[in-house]
Amino acid sequence: MAKKINEYVKWVGKTDWELKKFHGDEYNTINGSSYNSYLIEDEKVVLIDTAWKPFDEEFVENLKKEIDLNKIDYIIANHGEVDHSGSLPKLMEEIPNTPIYCTANGVKSIKGQYHKNWNFVTIKTGDTLNIGEHTLTFIEAPMLHWPDTMFTYMDKENILFSNDAFGQHIASESLYADEIDSGVLYSEALKYYANIVAPFSMMVKNKINEILKMNIPINMICPSHGLIWRKNPEDIINRYYKWADNYAENQITILYDTMWNDTRKMAEVIAKGIKAENNKIDVKVINTAKSDKTANLAEVFKSKAIIVGSPTVNNGYLYSIAGTLELIRGLKLKNKKAASFGSYGWSGEAVKLLNEELKKCGFTLINEGLRCMWTPTEENIKECFEFGREIAKSCE
Ligand code: FEO
Repeated sequence: MAKKINEYVKWVGKTDWELKKFHGDEYNTINGSSYNSYLIEDEKVVLIDTAWKPFDEEFVENLKKEIDLNKIDYIIANHGEVDHSGSLPKLMEEIPNTPIYCTANGVKSIKGQYHKNWNFVTIKTGDTLNIGEHTLTFIEAPMLHWPDTMFTYMDKENILFSNDAFGQHIASESLYADEIDSGVLYSEALKYYANIVAPFSMMVKNKINEILKMNIPINMICPSHGLIWRKNPEDIINRYYKWADNYAENQITILYDTMWNDTRKMAEVIAKGIKAENNKIDVKVINTAKSDKTANLAEVFKSKAIIVGSPTVNNGYLYSIAGTLELIRGLKLKNKKAASFGSYGWSGEAVKLLNEELKKCGFTLINEGLRCMWTPTEENIKECFEFGREIAKSCE
């Protein structure tokens, strides 16, 4: 059902309460999500983005309740990814000649997925579309989060339709960010940044600087996922600016997996050593085999240093650690430190291999790592404690 935003703009998207996995199995959406689509009714009628393909019939049927589809003058595709373009084929069956405004890369991505020669109108940054009382201005935003992404700015209402940027994977009956629990809101916004936007942090900083230089008033940011930023929209812009600038809190995260609890024992004592050395450091201890990988990446993103532990198994390390490191590698994080540890019975390669992988992920190694043969002895426990202290000192 549509939700009115103001005299001219309605939300006509889809709230997906059931969504628990996004991007295949890459992202755990524990709070669901939404595919936000916006209908602007001025002298001309404009639809911005659609909804994910499984909801295409529902999306088009609901849209028909709001507007005679033949009255839609323009469709704007801010981004071609299927969560926003997936209902286009169903919609275009009804209004096949309606122009679709998007970037040149948008044409490529939409054609590449749907193999249709729709009436594309290619835009560049600064191009405008007058729709009556209002003018829409297009701003290309490549890699936020695909090469095709753009923002659309509506003057007079001063609304930035930002697509993926500034989104959160949250399903809610509320429309506005100021109406929901702020802990959930900011936790999900950061999780979304860490998991999806972080690899493109340099582009985020440049894009925010570009928008600030345009000196356009922004009263509202309408992203394509989650809640709309209505009160102090500059707050989320400032947060993005901070997150894009080698972000770290005073936190160290220990990520480990364990076979017979020996590496777990090491992890827990290392945590105590860190805290004993510097009580102000927030220490998180996470078993990667028993936790939410998406939340784990957010903890890594917030950390000054990560300490990664695995026993040696078959001359390597455990697969939940391997998967976690692959996810971390993709984030292209900078200015973070790392160390590794683990128990072993005979060959004991895991720590060396973890060190190599952590370097490839862009982390600066604090030391050579700590190995413990078989179950930790009292002496080993002391070593783990001192290892934690050394890590804490290196993060001061
Ligand atoms: Fe929400 Fe990049 O799609």
